[in-house]
Amino acid sequence: MTATSEDPAARGVIVTGGGTGIGRATARAFARQGAQVLIVGRTESTLIETAKEHPGIRVLAADITDPEVPRLVVDTAVREFGRLDVLVNNAAVLGYRPLPHIDRDLADRQLGTNLVAPIFLTQRALDPLEATGGTVVNLSTAGSLGLRSWPNNSLYGAAKVALDFLTRTWAVELGPRGIRVVGIAPGVIDTASGPQMGMTPEQYAGFLQQISTQAPAGRVGTPEEVAWWIVQLTSPEAAYANGMVLPVDGALSLT
Ligand SMILES: NC(=O)c1ccc[n+]([C@@H]2O[C@H](COP(=O)([O-])OP(=O)(O)OC[C@H]3O[C@@H](n4cnc5c(N)ncnc54)[C@H](OP(=O)(O)O)[C@@H]3O)[C@@H](O)[C@H]2O)c1
Repeated sequence: MTATSEDPAARGVIVTGGGTGIGRATARAFARQGAQVLIVGRTESTLIETAKEHPGIRVLAADITDPEVPRLVVDTAVREFGRLDVLVNNAAVLGYRPLPHIDRDLADRQLGTNLVAPIFLTQRALDPLEATGGTVVNLSTAGSLGLRSWPNNSLYGAAKVALDFLTRTWAVELGPRGIRVVGIAPGVIDTASGPQMGMTPEQYAGFLQQISTQAPAGRVGTPEEVAWWIVQLTSPEAAYANGMVLPVDGALSLT
């Protein structure tokens, strides 16, 4: 029988950055549907922690900025699952810094992880995704939607704007091959990422409180609320959704 993505329980899924936050919630949500999920990240311990919840989750400790890794990731998934239906380009790094303090290392890390790695992962995944009529989901951010600016976070925002452009363009390029490409733009999601943003736990709690006051939803989001949309957009019923970037932000970006 030819593999297709019609049956969510039979699918093979890759989630980069599946050891924490939104990636962890996404891997678990797919696995609960019965999908086989490969999660990728640099820290094996967090990957293993994610995988403990479900036998359908396998782990691969690897750095997606390594040029050899896209092949390793995709080949591992296809070998383990016999098919690939979904690639979730979720892994990203933050790096708040004003322009005068941006150095080569930060630029390479930000653009390498958040933009270049998804390009080569997606490229490597094309043939197996074509075989199943699969979907690529790119994680963007509501913070860079429209004509927004983002002082002191220009590289991260620029990478996400560029990723949105890739989402739209690849949807058009790959539509004839039966592959869909969609984006999700989360608002502020509580993933305990305060330290990554250079904040103390107290500062992070204050930041979440301030966003809760500003957001029409009256609160920040949860990783599970973003994961739900990722899973929905890869389902057969979502087949006519293509090339768009969906904000999941409690209308924060409209304020
Ligand atoms: N949380 C939010 O409020 C929010 C808002 C808007 C958009 N987003 C987007 O949503 C996605 C997930 O965010 P999150 O908050 O869940 O982030 P997170 O908890 O920091 O997760 C990022 C993941 O990426 C992995 N990663 C980073 N660099 C990597 C590399 N070179 N190779 C392999 N894995 C790598 C990290 O694992 P290792 O460090 O172990 O490698 C980590 O598990 C990101 O694309 C982010 O930009 C998040």
